[in-house]
Amino acid sequence: MATGSTFQWTKPMELFSSGKPVKICAPMVRYSKLPFRMLVRKYDCDLAYTPMIISDSFVKSLRARDSDFTTCAEDRPLIVQFAASCADDFADAAEIVAPWAMTEGYGACLLGKPELLYDMVRQARDRVGDPDFTVSIKIRIHDDIRKTVELCQRAEKCGAAWISVHGRTKDQRCQPVNCEAIRTIKDSVSVPVIANGDIKSLADVDNITEKTGVDGVMSARGILANPAMYAGFDETPVQCVKDWLDISLSLGTSFQCFHHHLIYMMDKLMSRAERRVFNSLASTSAVIDFIRENYSL
Ligand SMILES: Cc1cc2nc3c(=O)[nH]c(=O)nc-3n(C[C@H](O)[C@H](O)[C@H](O)COP(=O)(O)O)c2cc1C
Repeated sequence: MATGSTFQWTKPMELFSSGKPVKICAPMVRYSKLPFRMLVRKYDCDLAYTPMIISDSFVKSLRARDSDFTTCAEDRPLIVQFAASCADDFADAAEIVAPWAMTEGYGACLLGKPELLYDMVRQARDRVGDPDFTVSIKIRIHDDIRKTVELCQRAEKCGAAWISVHGRTKDQRCQPVNCEAIRTIKDSVSVPVIANGDIKSLADVDNITEKTGVDGVMSARGILANPAMYAGFDETPVQCVKDWLDISLSLGTSFQCFHHHLIYMMDKLMSRAERRVFNSLASTSAVIDFIRENYSL
């Protein structure tokens, strides 16, 4: 599971008191693992999430724990995101990771089961005494924004320390993010609110912060394509590719994870023909040779 035992990290709520939007790497199944989190932290990402972890197998199986959750002392501040179908599993999982990280409850279906969501937040909050340990939620919006406002206000009362809002409904895929809805939520609660959806550059960070007044921003596809976006780069700098090679290889990343990240982050750096060759490479050494030959690393 986690390596190391005692950690000191910026206290979660201190992150939100700088007056600047907190820049966050979103939870991403298969992608926001330790090596990628270490990469984005080098490029001005303030806070990073694990991929979603299923809480009941995490609680029951040491093996699941070891394979799903790896961290190190520098991997801070960290949020572990748990999907749970009952409050007990979520609270058990929160208790296990409390010495290492903060937690978040997840599941699009929870939008339709608000009582379960409140119960999860309440139980996890009650179970872990440390006041610096936080429980947060990440949600999409309802068609009727009043429902989302009520859900957020009640989650706040139950102890949610902040709320991340993907500004789309659960049925929306590519529609524009609803900034007005995010603004309404921000104006309706006292805890920090994070905006998520289509943030791909520092200009997007400024734009959505100005429109919604949020305390932080969260990026998934944008930061996959350009892990240096929060440091102001418009596309992945070659140095960032080099950093990925160094970090991921030193942490023993699987070939699939190593290669997939490169496919995303180098997409804009390659011609179509190069991409076709690169995407079909099947070994770490072939990938390294390709990058050395084409990018003078
Ligand atoms: C590859 C991938 C994996 C994702 N996995 C998760 C996840 O584990 N938990 C979660 O809450 N959202 C997950 N999401 C959704 C993102 O966190 C985010 O809410 C969504 O992609 C919108 O943000 P974006 O426009 O910056 O991509 C995932 C998205 C992508 C692209």
